[in-house]
Amino acid sequence: MLEETYSGTPPRSGKRRDRVIAIQVAPGADLPPLEREAVHTAVREQGPKPGGLIEVLHAVQARLGCVPPRTVPLIAYGLNLTRAEVHGVISFYHDFREQPPGQRVVKLCRAEACQAVGARALETHLREQLGIDLHTTTPDGRVTLEPVYCLGNCALGPSVMIDGRLHGRVTPQGLERLLGQAP
Ligand code: FES
Repeated sequence: MLEETYSGTPPRSGKRRDRVIAIQVAPGADLPPLEREAVHTAVREQGPKPGGLIEVLHAVQARLGCVPPRTVPLIAYGLNLTRAEVHGVISFYHDFREQPPGQRVVKLCRAEACQAVGARALETHLREQLGIDLHTTTPDGRVTLEPVYCLGNCALGPSVMIDGRLHGRVTPQGLERLLGQAP
C-alpha cells in the first residue's frame, strides 16, 4: 500500500513545493512468495476464531516445514494479534519449530513411564551418536532430534517417533537400525 502525504504550506505559483512521500509497506511484502501465500492461505482457512492461532501455526508449518520467524508479523497482522503473542505461542509449544527440520525427524519420549524403562540412556546414546543436542539438526541436515512428553505408548516404552511413525521398546541398537533404514 502506498500513501502520499505533503508537508509545508500550500504551494504558490513559482514557489518550490516540498513533497514528502511516506511509503507504507503492506505486511508480508518482504516475504518470499511461498511463505506469504502459506500465511495468507492459513489465515483465510482458519480465520480469527478462538484457538485460531494454533491452527494457523500448524497449517503454516505443514506447508513450510517450520514457522519462519519472519512470517510472525504477517501472522500477527492477519489474526489481529501482537507479534509477542504469536512468538509466545511458537516458543511455548515444542511442536512448532523455527527452522526447517532435517530429512529424518526423531522424537524421543522424555516422560516418566519411558524414563523408567531406559529413555534417558537412549537419549544419551543418540545424542552421542549424532553429536547434537535436543532441538537441533545434524550439520549435514540428516536428522533432527526433538523431545516429546508422552506419545501415548507408555506400556511399550521407551517410545520414539521417527518421521511420524511410532516405535516401542526401542533399544539403542534398534534405534540405529531404524535410522539406517530409508525414510
Ligand atoms: S511416557 Fe513415553 S509414551 Fe507415554
